[in-house]
Amino acid sequence: MGRVFLIASGKGGVGKTTVASNLAAAFPKDKRVLVFDADLDLANLDIAFGMRDLHVYDLQDLYFGRCSFSDAAIPVPDHPNVTAVFAPLRREASITVLLRFLREQVEACRERYDYVLVDCPAGIGPALEVLSCPRYATVLVTTPDRTAVSDAERAAEHLYRKGAERIRLIVNRVRPQLIRKSRAPDIDDIIDTTAVQLIGLIPEDVSVICAGNSDRLVLDMPRARSRKAFLNIARRLNGEDVDLDRFS
Ligand SMILES: Nc1ncnc2c1ncn2[C@@H]1O[C@H](COP(=O)(O)OP(=O)(O)OP(=O)(O)O)[C@@H](O)[C@H]1O
Ligand SMILES: [Mg+2]
Repeated sequence: MGRVFLIASGKGGVGKTTVASNLAAAFPKDKRVLVFDADLDLANLDIAFGMRDLHVYDLQDLYFGRCSFSDAAIPVPDHPNVTAVFAPLRREASITVLLRFLREQVEACRERYDYVLVDCPAGIGPALEVLSCPRYATVLVTTPDRTAVSDAERAAEHLYRKGAERIRLIVNRVRPQLIRKSRAPDIDDIIDTTAVQLIGLIPEDVSVICAGNSDRLVLDMPRARSRKAFLNIARRLNGEDVDLDRFS
């Protein structure tokens, strides 16, 4: 059975879609990886993969029977082991109906894929309500800002209350010089506040912004400073023992 990771956050805009797309591409090439966009009102996983103009069908088309699964599940360019099912740009069915359908798809796909990643919308709304369950792990993304950390804390509490057993924390957009000057929360304080085990730190990286604006993944930019962080997080999620990244 493949493993399912919900990529979630309390606050919006902290990097879930960046993490979902780059992590998917960072898993070993012999692993079959499927990524769903569960952000059913503000979908943009397709942009992160540079695929907005490359797909015709999405999850909603699949729900309405307008296409088959293989029409909606599109291979990601340069990453033949990664497939993505995108979300509609104009929603016709209710959020709850589509989320329940998504959950069925995730369950069905666990047999055929090693990893299923679900790029969730921010907050503790209907997506986590419908999708989170003890069988799935959650990767909770935050930035090192007090507001984002406070929201991550509440999201973690919510998930634990719902019976989530495996939550892991990513702190994204880390700027060590700000932490050293006490202008950003210390990583240990973030872990204590959220009460979630850390799986990785991703540095602030201007290449992430450039990649997002040029139909590329930062993972495919060999000199990008955040690339190694994504690769190491994928290795840890894959069960390997990899030391935490340190960057200055
Ligand atoms: N490590 C990073 N360094 C620099 N910029 C980053 C980094 N991670 C993400 N960003 C930028 O932050 C912005 C938000 O990222 P992203 O869309 O992945 O967030 P999100 O959590 O999915 O947002 P939403 O809650 O709206 O779905 C993007 O412009 C992205 O390029
Ligand atoms: Mg997003």
